Amino acid sequence: SIVQKEQHKPREGFATSLGVITATLGSAVGLGNIWKFPYMTGENGGAAFILVYLLCVILVGLPVMISELIIGRTTQANAITAFKRLAPNRPWYLVGVSGTAASFLIMAFYTTVAGWVFSYIFKAASGVISTTDPEVTTQVFKTSMSAVWSPLLWQWFVLLFTGSIIMLGVTKGIERITKTLMPILFLLLLICVIRALTLPGASEGLKFLFRPDFSKITGATILTAMGLSFFKLSVGMGTMITYGSYFGFRENIPYTAVKVMLSDTLVSILAGMAIFPAVFAFGFKPDAGPSLLFITIPTVFASMPLGNIFMVLFFLLVSIAATGAMISLLEVPVAYFTEELKWSRLKATLVTIISIALVGTTATLSFSTLGDTKFFDKTFFDLYDFLTSNILLPVGGLLITYFIAWKWGLKNIAREASNNGSLSNQPVINIYFFIVRYLAPIAITLILLNGLGFIKI
Ligand code: PFF
Repeated sequence: SIVQKEQHKPREGFATSLGVITATLGSAVGLGNIWKFPYMTGENGGAAFILVYLLCVILVGLPVMISELIIGRTTQANAITAFKRLAPNRPWYLVGVSGTAASFLIMAFYTTVAGWVFSYIFKAASGVISTTDPEVTTQVFKTSMSAVWSPLLWQWFVLLFTGSIIMLGVTKGIERITKTLMPILFLLLLICVIRALTLPGASEGLKFLFRPDFSKITGATILTAMGLSFFKLSVGMGTMITYGSYFGFRENIPYTAVKVMLSDTLVSILAGMAIFPAVFAFGFKPDAGPSLLFITIPTVFASMPLGNIFMVLFFLLVSIAATGAMISLLEVPVAYFTEELKWSRLKATLVTIISIALVGTTATLSFSTLGDTKFFDKTFFDLYDFLTSNILLPVGGLLITYFIAWKWGLKNIAREASNNGSLSNQPVINIYFFIVRYLAPIAITLILLNGLGFIKI
């Protein structure tokens, strides 16, 4: 019967090792590298912030990523069902529920920024931002983000575009598209970095990126850096559980996670090297905040021959990065709806993108009609961002490391991380186990409590 056929259909997954890397890296690389990382580095004093961020990536982000991939591949399930399988009749599945909710909140504001980026491809092509005058680029950005309909329409376009990739499925959608897009992204980024580094005055920007000033580091800054490390590596909310469930049983999980972490960090540093030389060369302030990318990047290209073409390529590159990340966010609820509620992929995707369009509208309108609607002094946009990066993802990461190290245990971890003993990576597993058992949970707890002002270190 049809029902039986359905049950015997093998679960979809990534068909090749290359696809495993491009999809996972595609999730990690996104607006986080090219929009958040540079503006946060700019706001928090440069190199010192980057060092704190790197520590968080290694001691917290990476171990959470390995944990999630292990949980996903073992259970072959979405973020919620995975916990139901490992801890039946226990409340641990709520970690998956909260992670899925976090994916909605992230998408709500992520699609706002992605919409700006997509629209900038056309702004660049039309020449309106081809100027080295910061006043003009600032004005164009302010006007376009504070309009009502055009940013909303761009946001909905992003949802439809990424939704249609998700509807194609895991192999034909996520894997095939990221295999095509990731190499293009690296190539475009290299072109932009070379251009920025050859600007007169580029060295000021490099000093800012690589020379630390520790006086800028506070408890709140450390929490911001840790939040960024979660957001960047797409961890703490079940995205990597979902993607791990598509990994083949031959894949070396710890090794893959390290490769993704290193490549992702490289992309962030390269993005910084494309942006900060221009910031200093054209007399911008590095602490412009979320608008940094949109007002400085045009000036990098405006003064050069064929500048318009490079500017179009740059915003195309950012759109590509945002797409790989968005599809992984969409896949979190879609995997749950299709596996647990047995919806079709089409229905699951449509319901998800329509809900995000509704919630996301409040984020987009935070720059116009809803600008005065604030909670704890934050607009909807800022609230979704703060709540996810600085609270939901760290708490999710804390519970995931606690669960895997203290409830699931070393024996299970060692079996899964070594592919049943066929990989000789026991020393790596031992280091990983020490970090997830002690270091990561303690660090997350202290940074969280200190950053939110509950304790003073
Ligand atoms: N890692 C993505 C970025 O840095 O832009 C954002 C992201 C994607 C966060 C997927 C969370 C996630 F599940």
